[in-house]
Amino acid sequence: MLFQKVKFSLVAACLAFSSIATAQEQIAVGVSMPEFSNMRWVNDGLSIMRELNKVNLASDLQYASSGADMQIAQIESMIQKGVKVLVIAAIDGKKLTDVLKKAGDKKIKVISYDRLIRDSANVDYYATFDNFDVGVKQGTDIVKRLDLAAGKGPFRIELFAGSQDDNNAFFFYDGAMSVLKPYLDKKQLIIESGQEGMNNVSTKGWNGAIAKARLSVLLPKYYSKQRLDAVLSPNDGIAAELITGFIKAGYGVAGNPMPVITGQDADVPATKAVLRGQQSSTVFKDTRELARVTAQMAEALIQGKVPTVNDNKTYNNGVKVVPSFLLKPVLVDASNIQKVLVGSGFYRAEQIQ
Ligand code: BGC
Repeated sequence: MLFQKVKFSLVAACLAFSSIATAQEQIAVGVSMPEFSNMRWVNDGLSIMRELNKVNLASDLQYASSGADMQIAQIESMIQKGVKVLVIAAIDGKKLTDVLKKAGDKKIKVISYDRLIRDSANVDYYATFDNFDVGVKQGTDIVKRLDLAAGKGPFRIELFAGSQDDNNAFFFYDGAMSVLKPYLDKKQLIIESGQEGMNNVSTKGWNGAIAKARLSVLLPKYYSKQRLDAVLSPNDGIAAELITGFIKAGYGVAGNPMPVITGQDADVPATKAVLRGQQSSTVFKDTRELARVTAQMAEALIQGKVPTVNDNKTYNNGVKVVPSFLLKPVLVDASNIQKVLVGSGFYRAEQIQ
């Protein structure tokens, strides 16, 4: 409940910020964010607005909370308002082809934010994290905690992945599997359900409740006589729901500890869960940096300059390889959370107590 309130007031702050900026001058940048049920997008919105303000670019920030069609309508309205640059974190990376054609026809530049927009020639740049490495870090954490490199096992694992309409979800999964596969092959890791591959383990809309419902089928079916030792969770929102599922099933007590559970985003509830020992780790992506890189890209484009990129090969959107700037994700667990998250000023100490 409190979380809801915090969320609401932050969103309200975002929107207020947005209208101040828009009242002053012609909107240069339209910022389209996907949703606010995962707290990271609220932080992203605030950070982008702040960074655009710093370089004197007025912006319009919109959240498409009710889905891909709403996002398309919002982007259409930004095009009508005459923005020069669009920054878009797509809900469905494959549904923006038509609306981006309209942007391209008007010479509006498009920056794909965090998630790659697919099937469109009208995506000019991509600002994101090394998404494959996010998965590698999650997989490596499981290997480390189960001591697999020393030959330990067999341990039982189940895999969860993000939403198939989000290109990132494939990168996270592939990254994690690049690390876990050798141990699955050697039978040091066993998936009792046999459920593997994006078609079997993805989570529609990144909806944690869907992942939890899947867990509540898996646990009694495959793990009534033996423990589930590890879960690949693609992000913190899903991890939080899985944790409640495990508690309900009797995990998290002496003699039956929580399985290894990974995450991503270092959101406040997950950070607390890591400190409480319920979640093993999370992958921190400094969204302040992503916002800074994005604002610099937007500024360069508006000035007719070429934005700085550091990757020209990884992100093919089905039509072209999109020039990208990739930031580095950082694995955090109880041993370095204070240093990384509080030390960098991402959170105040009291926020995560
Ligand atoms: C983002 C993650 C986020 C997930 C769900 C992904 O595209 O990269 O940070 O947890 O979407 O919102």
